[in-house]
Amino acid sequence: MAKSPPLLTRPQSHSPKKYHQHPKRRPMSPFCISIFLLVTCVAFFTLFQIQSLHTPPSSSSPWSLMHQWRKVTTSSQELTSMAEKLKQAVTFLPLKDLRYQDKALEGHTWFMSSMYDIHEEGEVQYQQFPSESSNGRLLCLKGRDTHDGSWNSYALAWPETLPLNASLLKGLTFVSYNHYNYDNIWHGLSAVVPFVAWHIRNGCESPSRWILYHWGELRFKMSTWLRTLTEATYGADPYIEGFEWANNSEPVCFEKAVVMRHNEGGMSRERRIETYDLMRCKARAYCNLSLEDARINDKGLPRIGLTLFMRTGPRSFRNESAVIGIFEKECAKVEGCKLMVAYSNNLTFCEQVKLMSLTDILASPHGAQLTNMFLMDRNSSVMEFFPKGWLKLAGVGQYVYHWIASWSGMKHQGAWRDPDGDPCPFPEDDRRCMSVYKGGKIGFNETYFSEWAANILSEVKRRKMENVSNNTTASTSSCPCS
Ligand SMILES: *[C@@H]1O[C@H](CO)[C@@H](O)[C@H](O)[C@H]1NC(C)=O
Ligand SMILES: *[C@@H]1O[C@H](CO)[C@@H](O)[C@H](O)[C@H]1NC(C)=O
Ligand SMILES: *[C@@H]1O[C@H](CO)[C@@H](O)[C@H](O)[C@H]1NC(C)=O
Ligand SMILES: *[C@@H]1O[C@H](CO)[C@@H](O)[C@H](O)[C@H]1NC(C)=O
Ligand SMILES: *[C@@H]1O[C@H](CO)[C@@H](O)[C@H](O)[C@H]1NC(C)=O
Ligand SMILES: *[C@@H]1O[C@H](CO)[C@@H](O)[C@H](O)[C@H]1NC(C)=O
Ligand SMILES: *[C@@H]1O[C@H](CO)[C@@H](O)[C@H](O)[C@H]1NC(C)=O
Ligand SMILES: *[C@@H]1O[C@H](CO)[C@@H](O)[C@H](O)[C@H]1NC(C)=O
Ligand SMILES: *[C@@H]1O[C@H](CO)[C@@H](O)[C@H](O)[C@H]1NC(C)=O
Ligand SMILES: *[C@@H]1O[C@H](CO)[C@@H](O)[C@H](O)[C@H]1NC(C)=O
Repeated sequence: MAKSPPLLTRPQSHSPKKYHQHPKRRPMSPFCISIFLLVTCVAFFTLFQIQSLHTPPSSSSPWSLMHQWRKVTTSSQELTSMAEKLKQAVTFLPLKDLRYQDKALEGHTWFMSSMYDIHEEGEVQYQQFPSESSNGRLLCLKGRDTHDGSWNSYALAWPETLPLNASLLKGLTFVSYNHYNYDNIWHGLSAVVPFVAWHIRNGCESPSRWILYHWGELRFKMSTWLRTLTEATYGADPYIEGFEWANNSEPVCFEKAVVMRHNEGGMSRERRIETYDLMRCKARAYCNLSLEDARINDKGLPRIGLTLFMRTGPRSFRNESAVIGIFEKECAKVEGCKLMVAYSNNLTFCEQVKLMSLTDILASPHGAQLTNMFLMDRNSSVMEFFPKGWLKLAGVGQYVYHWIASWSGMKHQGAWRDPDGDPCPFPEDDRRCMSVYKGGKIGFNETYFSEWAANILSEVKRRKMENVSNNTTASTSSCPCS
């Protein structure tokens, strides 16, 4: 969500110039010259020594053979002891860095705070282990606390010198950090999207396991919707590592790990669209949808799907039948238009995928169910409804469905904000009113809704007519990465 903060642009290993400024050249003093000569002599001497180690010992010199044999055994003992020291030197740091507690949302995360991300312009920001920037070291994790991330810890270690008693897990491990949770489909999707982007850019490699963190605390569940989307995308039910088998005080290291801490942050619009395209395509394939017959009706006119996606409880429409009536009336005026009314709470994942694939205009109150919009064909339309008070009090989070529309290539065609709502005992702009407005219901304005629906319907129809005259059918070609 947030733009990548300057702190997180990793010092690029291929541009070290920035960090090692050349001092101005000055003529050498005689003292400098003698130091220079001394260093040169030492260097030649060392080179000579190394060279003599490589040349096979001549039989005419038994002393030299003995000498070199002793040298080799000593260094192998030294190596063993050095490796032992390296194993013990692996230092674990808390996953949650309390120094960033107050600005957890402002950029540098408190998750693995000593690490920098790999970030190329327009691409997802991530960390990978082993990699050049980790000097070939693997990621190791320790602890499985679910309440306080500062009790869980991380370290880097070379594969030859893993910390004592460490287990090594084979395959690719996705390590996800999320400020929010994996139950809410919007927040959960934000956490999964960067892994899909990485998957596309890295030979479609799929993970053997996922490790989910919220503030460094382990999580073991995704919402069913998110889990099914992940299964559809990667072709296998995601295995979420619970570490039940592991000894809490012993480390677990990973043959290959990819860590995401910034959701979509840093990704260009093209990259995001490519990522949502892949998930849409995979979801439709997973749900066995075939769409060719649905595009054109028997009169050869394009079908236009207008879907009212209803909520129950907070942010539902106060008078559903009135709202349905308005949209029904406008839909009936446009040949080919079909109105669908659905409730997000009782549709399976594949029912949602199917519904969205038939939807050209999605009209729905602000809420997580709108996350489904990326499953519509590209360039489809979104109409959003808010209860009273949100514009002033709900903060920037109220625009998330504008963002996802833009990221997934949809057209967000505005929001209607109810001027009326439940009375608040404080002045209208008082933050405390948000608790009243948050769960508020949404009314309607017949004039406004009718005009709005009519305009969008005619725009969509115009767009779809262009395609009909070319007699295009929905592309059935297989998805990338399959
Ligand atoms: C490694 O495991 C052994 C056997 O369980 C135990 O005695 C030893 O203390 C462990 N070492 C560390 C550093 O955890
Ligand atoms: C876990 O590891 C610690 C340290 O190595 C050891 O003392 C303890 O007995 C182990 N516990 C189990 C259940 O293996
Ligand atoms: C899709 O079709 C395949 C093969 O016919 C079947 O095994 C699978 O269960 C179907 N998937 C869904 C989600 O219906
Ligand atoms: C489009 O083309 C297909 C065959 O390519 C044909 O069967 C269908 O009738 C055409 N539809 C229209 C509306 O022209
Ligand atoms: C809902 O709206 C319809 C149509 O405007 C109206 O007839 C009905 O009385 C309303 N219902 C309620 C509960 O306000
Ligand atoms: C889905 O939920 C809505 C509202 O709770 C209800 O009216 C509808 O009958 C439900 N549909 C099914 C198929 O259960
Ligand atoms: C979406 O619309 C834009 C312009 O409005 C057009 O350039 C683009 O080709 C469309 N994309 C698709 C997939 O229809
Ligand atoms: C309903 O919408 C129309 C058209 O935008 C507007 O002129 C009118 O004032 C609105 N009515 C109410 C009660 O807000
Ligand atoms: C128009 O056709 C293109 C290519 O087949 C397709 O990708 C796009 O979704 C269609 N647009 C609409 C609005 O149906
Ligand atoms: C359909 O054909 C028209 C005219 O030939 C062309 O301008 C338009 O780009 C085509 N649309 C698509 C989606 O191929």
